[in-house]
Amino acid sequence: MTSKDYGFEDMRFIDLFAGLGGFHLALRDLGHTCVFACEIDETLRKLYESNFEMTCAGDIRSIDVRDIPRHEILCAGFPCQPFSKAGPQPGLEDPKLGELYLYILGVIQHSRPKYLILENVPNLEHQGNGKSWQKLRALLEEEGYNVAIETISPDQYGIPQIRKRIYIVGSFETLDGFPGRLRWGRKHKLVSLRSFLKVSPIDARPIPKPSTCSPKMRGSLTPFGRWSSTLLIPTNELRLARCPSTLSGNIEDRSDAS
Ligand SMILES: C[S@@+](CC[C@H](N)C(=O)[O-])C[C@H]1O[C@@H](n2cnc3c(N)ncnc32)[C@H](O)[C@@H]1O
Repeated sequence: MTSKDYGFEDMRFIDLFAGLGGFHLALRDLGHTCVFACEIDETLRKLYESNFEMTCAGDIRSIDVRDIPRHEILCAGFPCQPFSKAGPQPGLEDPKLGELYLYILGVIQHSRPKYLILENVPNLEHQGNGKSWQKLRALLEEEGYNVAIETISPDQYGIPQIRKRIYIVGSFETLDGFPGRLRWGRKHKLVSLRSFLKVSPIDARPIPKPSTCSPKMRGSLTPFGRWSSTLLIPTNELRLARCPSTLSGNIEDRSDAS
């Protein structure tokens, strides 16, 4: 599916706080073109440049908004530490990272992109009794955007990872009746672990009997229990099986879904 299938023209986008380029991959696959990216971490920046064959600017605080090319979509996965439940949650008051939203706002005010996609941890909506979110929402609405927010996770889209993230979308078009023309995408049925296993992988070897019976491994391999005697599991997938924290949400009792 490309953007045209959803009724959208191909557009230009920018990738602020670009990281590994998750937004870039998704929007490029939909047919859009990245015209600007910035990322403060040098290693990530080099990786981004090598993966996407374009330059990536550095610290957003040192960027002159007039140097950012025209674009229709602004993406920003801004740092989540101020909002994360894993820390003291200073929110927008965080002296180091809390003010970064102001730089996103600066780009918005200058470039007025048609669409915004911001990403953060789900707790952004609730941190400080919702004060940060209310402030962000009000600022975006003051700029004329209709705003919607939703927490989604890759496992709802057929990817074997549970990683809830909040997505804030902004549009000059109405979001009434959302999800409608603009929508979060069709959520998949839960995927089964079986669907990730090849029936006859060429690098497979049988699991030795004592391993499947080992009390140490039995807990980790429980989801494979029914299949391990009939299926050949390749070595790399066997390693996955030993990391149930990554997959546990996806593998429990889902072997029938596909
Ligand atoms: C949540 S991650 C973004 C993840 C990204 N969307 C991806 O797909 O990988 C936030 C990123 O912001 C970067 N960052 C933090 N402060 C920054 C700044 N002042 N200017 C540019 N990037 C910054 C961090 O290095 C980190 O990679």
